[in-house]
Amino acid sequence: MTENNELRHIAIIMDGNGRWASKQGLPRSLGHKKGAEVVKTIARAAADKGIQYLTLYAFSTENWQRSKEEVSYLMTLLRQYLKGDLQELKENKVRIRFIGERYMLDADIRQMMADLEQETSAYDKMTLCIALSYGSRQEIISAVKKTAELIKSGNISLEDIDINLFSDMLYTKDIPDPDLLIRTSGEKRISNYLLWQSAYSELAFTDVLWPDFTPEHLQKIIDDFKTRERRYGKV
Ligand code: IPE
Ligand code: IPE
Ligand code: MG
Repeated sequence: MTENNELRHIAIIMDGNGRWASKQGLPRSLGHKKGAEVVKTIARAAADKGIQYLTLYAFSTENWQRSKEEVSYLMTLLRQYLKGDLQELKENKVRIRFIGERYMLDADIRQMMADLEQETSAYDKMTLCIALSYGSRQEIISAVKKTAELIKSGNISLEDIDINLFSDMLYTKDIPDPDLLIRTSGEKRISNYLLWQSAYSELAFTDVLWPDFTPEHLQKIIDDFKTRERRYGKV
């Protein structure tokens, strides 16, 4: 058995905020609020553990279909987060990236995102990648379109298309594929997250709801990951 698998990139589907709140008779919004605090704790813990890339699913393209009230609360929370909490990460030399369909977000949010990315672009402690208005199928379609444009303009030929070239057309360009993909809250599905990138990711599902997720839970999953044998189709 291979031990001490290299763990460069962890991707997390942060699920269960609403159920966490309902269980306590609270509105869903308070689950999201607590969830946002946990993001900070887990990002800090991952950086301390020497994880180089952490990609967090914060809002999916499909989440736009939730009630107006919930979406609007999530956007308020996001504004606060971009203004406050992420600034703290900046002080800790964390590089911040966003992946997703940006055009669907309000202009002021897009501006804050672009500013944070630019201001932190040279940092190297950890890359925190936040998937916002993100959908993997949409990402793949947009990559297909970019590739087709390159052919149309004569910059590449059909034969040039390979896994590396196509990976570079995705929002995750320059980010290695996740080694470990975690989903909280007991659901066992991928929900349109990093479909291309997770081809060989190790999957971990925990029943813990995201607002209850702690660095200790994370460590247990990492310990389990270290005992796995990644074969990539070989024997
Ligand atoms: C995850 O928690 C956060 C977002 C999808 C924005 P949910 O809001 O999906 O919580 P549950 O799954 O309803 O409990
Ligand atoms: C996935 O959770 C998206 C995020 C965690 C941001 P959902 O709660 O939206 O996924 P489904 O609807 O249970 O598949
Ligand atoms: Mg959910």
